[in-house]
Amino acid sequence: MSIELKQGIYWVGAIDWKLRNFHGFTTPRGGTYNAYLLIDEKITLIDSTKPEFAGELLRRIREIIDPSKIDYVICNHAEIDHSGSIPDVMKVAPNAKIITSVKGKAILERHHKQSWEYQLVKTNDEISIGARTLKFATIPMVHWPDSMVTYVVEDEILFSNDAFGQQIATWERFADEVSMDIVMEENQRYYANIVLPFANPVKNALKLVGGLKCAMIAPAHGVIFRTPEHIAQILESYRKWSNHEADQRAVIVYDTMWQSTAAMAKAIQAACEHLNIPYTIHNLSEDNLSLVTHEMMVSKYVFVGSPVLNNGLMPQVAGFLHYLKGFAPKKKVGMAFGSYGWSAQSAKLINATFEKLCWDILPSVEIDYFPDEDELVALTQTVITNLQADPTQFAHANPAECELI
Ligand code: FEO
Repeated sequence: MSIELKQGIYWVGAIDWKLRNFHGFTTPRGGTYNAYLLIDEKITLIDSTKPEFAGELLRRIREIIDPSKIDYVICNHAEIDHSGSIPDVMKVAPNAKIITSVKGKAILERHHKQSWEYQLVKTNDEISIGARTLKFATIPMVHWPDSMVTYVVEDEILFSNDAFGQQIATWERFADEVSMDIVMEENQRYYANIVLPFANPVKNALKLVGGLKCAMIAPAHGVIFRTPEHIAQILESYRKWSNHEADQRAVIVYDTMWQSTAAMAKAIQAACEHLNIPYTIHNLSEDNLSLVTHEMMVSKYVFVGSPVLNNGLMPQVAGFLHYLKGFAPKKKVGMAFGSYGWSAQSAKLINATFEKLCWDILPSVEIDYFPDEDELVALTQTVITNLQADPTQFAHANPAECELI
């Protein structure tokens, strides 16, 4: 069933109950692809769904109107989860015009290899569809170069596409119908795994959104925000995350061969408990990378441990650091730890990633073969002492180079 958000404006998207992996990021609660239908003098569809949900999209549209009557198809973002059903829509509405950005058209042509009629828009362009005016703004790199948003001036609704989205499969369509704790947890996870590398583009998008009066923010994934409190909450969260502001929390991640590095992780855990710093601890061979990335984003302190394996790191730790470099989180304090046999190397390799990320770096600790009780107590004490000190005194990174990243 379609859902009316406001008179003449409907949600007609699809719910992906089975989704557990969304282009490499784990989605334990499934997902949604939101599309919206505006009934006016010009019938307008905003965004579509993954291709396999075209039937669900067209069924919901048919509950409201014959889809052949669609005049405009707005493509805010050509990634396949939003443009995948456009070919099916265009088959039943061949005279419809696609409204998108210059880059959106280029990507749609590469994806779909079709000759459709286009109207290209840029920031501040407006189109009247009858009683309503649609205003457009490009928000490049939130999430792809083509990304844009569509604002309905009279209804004060922002169709924000990937921005402010979350992956949740739920029949409820509004944030105030779902636990806000769950919505914000999924918003954080989505931001950490999709949006995190694009801090400056997000800041630009927030400046633009800040100039709009929003009665509703309707993203292309997840639930819609319609109360002033929830709209303020999601905007403030994006402000905080795009400024890389983290909580006084710690995340301890490691892999272990013979439990030596695991014992060191527990010694660091004891330091966090002593200082009353909330933490999570993850064995990377067992815990999901997307969930660990989420914890990393919200934590100021990141402890990474690995024993030495073949002159390098354990593969799961190396993979985590590779993932981390791609997301380029900033303003964190890192510490490397691990055991070794005849050649201590893991801290140097882990610290190289911290340096690349321009983090403050605490002195690392490496222990020969198996730590004894005294060494573990000493490790706990070292971490306590270092966390109580000003971490910038340990910084390795060159601030001038960091400005360039
Ligand atoms: Fe939801 Fe960038 O696609």
